[in-house]
Amino acid sequence: MKNFKHPPEPFRIKSIEPISIIPKTERENVLKRACYNVFKIKAAEIYIDLLTDSGTGAMSNEQWAAIMRGDESYAGARSYYRLEEVVADVTGKKHVIPVHQGRVGENVFFSTILKKGDYIPNNTHFDTTRANVIHKGGIAVDLPCPEASQDIDFPFKGNMDISSLDEFIQKHGPDKIPAVFMTVTNNSRGGLPVSMKNIADTAKICRKYGVLFFFDCARYAENAYFIKTCEPGYENRSVKEIAQEMFSYVDGALMSSKKDGLANMGGFVALNDDELAQKITELLIVIEGFPTYGGMSGRDIEAVAAGLKEALNEDYLAYRVGQVKYFGEALEQAGAPIIKPTGGHAIFIDAGKMLPHIPAEHFPGQALAVELYREGAIRGVEIGSLMFGSKDPVTGQIKTAPQELVRLAIPRRVYTVSHLDYVVDTISRIAARKESLKGFRITHEAKYLRHFTVELEELSDIGVEVA
Ligand code: F0G
Repeated sequence: MKNFKHPPEPFRIKSIEPISIIPKTERENVLKRACYNVFKIKAAEIYIDLLTDSGTGAMSNEQWAAIMRGDESYAGARSYYRLEEVVADVTGKKHVIPVHQGRVGENVFFSTILKKGDYIPNNTHFDTTRANVIHKGGIAVDLPCPEASQDIDFPFKGNMDISSLDEFIQKHGPDKIPAVFMTVTNNSRGGLPVSMKNIADTAKICRKYGVLFFFDCARYAENAYFIKTCEPGYENRSVKEIAQEMFSYVDGALMSSKKDGLANMGGFVALNDDELAQKITELLIVIEGFPTYGGMSGRDIEAVAAGLKEALNEDYLAYRVGQVKYFGEALEQAGAPIIKPTGGHAIFIDAGKMLPHIPAEHFPGQALAVELYREGAIRGVEIGSLMFGSKDPVTGQIKTAPQELVRLAIPRRVYTVSHLDYVVDTISRIAARKESLKGFRITHEAKYLRHFTVELEELSDIGVEVA
């Protein structure tokens, strides 16, 4: 297998879901109807859907079998104790509080620990984490390592900036910082991992000031695999042992099981502190459900418990990370500049670099995302000035994002390499005529999270509006 272009799938396909491609002329109508917003396209009108890797994975025969074991008892269901055992085994934490997805964990956790004006430092907050911190009156602070924004081939670009964290806590005082967070892998920074050294160094600082240290661990298994393959000293340790060591440094973790839980729904909060666990549980009962199901059915809990174990399988992880790497390298050869190195769950195309004739205020990332649909019925998502840009309400000045990217997230165990080769082929056809791609203008936008509902118009000339 060593010389093969990527580790082949360590599974065979038992159940299939038909997909088909609608004609190009229809796709043009779909785009018009969706006002050039890919979130408004019906899934049936898409051939390859790379919008997200969250909840879109395929379950195994063992997970489907586990679903039949689901215990739907309101209180004390067997399924809960199975989940508790699996989570405690990996994380070493005493309390396991189930939630139906990651952002509910964020809601109950931040509602419990945050006071207005408190800070939450993080290597980089994911959008819902940031939104939950802000929603509870807190201030979300991103402290990514300097290498994250350098054009170098450093494997752990997901790291925290340790010295900035130390300075930050010293400046604002530990009383204003109820917890430090670390997102593993760092979704908003290319899905790139955090090294064990960086986790240990962050823990040391948190201990020094007596501040809680938590993981946002949606993709912790992929992170552990990168530690095994890229961090000296870990090559002979099992991924599970590495994951256990990662969790030994934190006081607790929030997990969206829709990623490395290999399930379509689910999540949990895991922690040791009895008092904090009790407060979170009391809130959980009000907004989510009884503490032994937390918004999930017993069968969903079984799928998560089985999936959490499978996500640590090293053949699976070699295939998963290998598939992402293969896809990234092929896209680059096809003429799409990508963020490097490749991470665990997605490829980020640098549309700003690929389409320099479209200025940031006319959304080169959106131009590429729309063209991927038009040319190949493929859905990716713009992560650039459409998602993060804004207009100053007073001066009317437009603030653009630092980078104009398109994320192609890869659902787990869903697409084969020939599906990905089809995406690569589509990109090469777009790259061959990239100068013809046009920019966009917003015709309608919401006040918050505008990218979900935004409506756009394609400009009639290259990038810039014509009078
Ligand atoms: N934390 C991280 C790092 C995430 O990537 C996500 C979701 C969440 C928390 C929230 O979890 O969706 O279960 O409520 N990320 C998805 C994505 C939506 O497309 O990257 P959730």
